[in-house]
Amino acid sequence: MFSLTKTIWPILVTASGVLSLTLNAPTTAQSGSSTTITWTSTSTDPTFSIELAHPDLNAAIAVANNVNPANNQITVTLPIVQAGDGYTLEAVNITDINQVFSTSGDFSIAAAPSPSPSSSTPIASAPPSAPISVASVPLTPSGVSGSLPASSLSVPSPSV
Ligand SMILES: *[C@@H]1O[C@H](CO)[C@@H](O)[C@H](O)[C@H]1NC(C)=O
Repeated sequence: MFSLTKTIWPILVTASGVLSLTLNAPTTAQSGSSTTITWTSTSTDPTFSIELAHPDLNAAIAVANNVNPANNQITVTLPIVQAGDGYTLEAVNITDINQVFSTSGDFSIAAAPSPSPSSSTPIASAPPSAPISVASVPLTPSGVSGSLPASSLSVPSPSV
């Protein structure tokens, strides 16, 4: 069973040449929002482009072009895409996107913060709507943990 691994390794190394680029999956990603992509590199890595890929997408979507590998990170605005998991990032040859230098692990993209922003530059984080209204009438004194004065907790005693 180890022979398979031994056979495949040299092929992968040959196909990717001297590249050592390793692209990481973003820790948080939200459709249409800015996210930071990180990777590790060595001085021999070429300038590359970053594509967002998903099995449901017909084609990968470019999120960054002509990236300097030495930066080891870049902050990009993700395109508006359907929320879900199974997304990957690909570091690709800047002139041939079919030559993939590195693919990140799978990650999920959360839904856009507000109902479909019409531009590609979404308005910065609107708060997630309606403040939660705390019940204005305490139901039972025992349900309140003592921060209110006892006088405000007047609950009519059940009259028998
Ligand atoms: C990128 O692709 C072009 C065209 O196939 C090729 O000439 C070039 O060597 C590739 N670059 C790297 C870094 O592999």
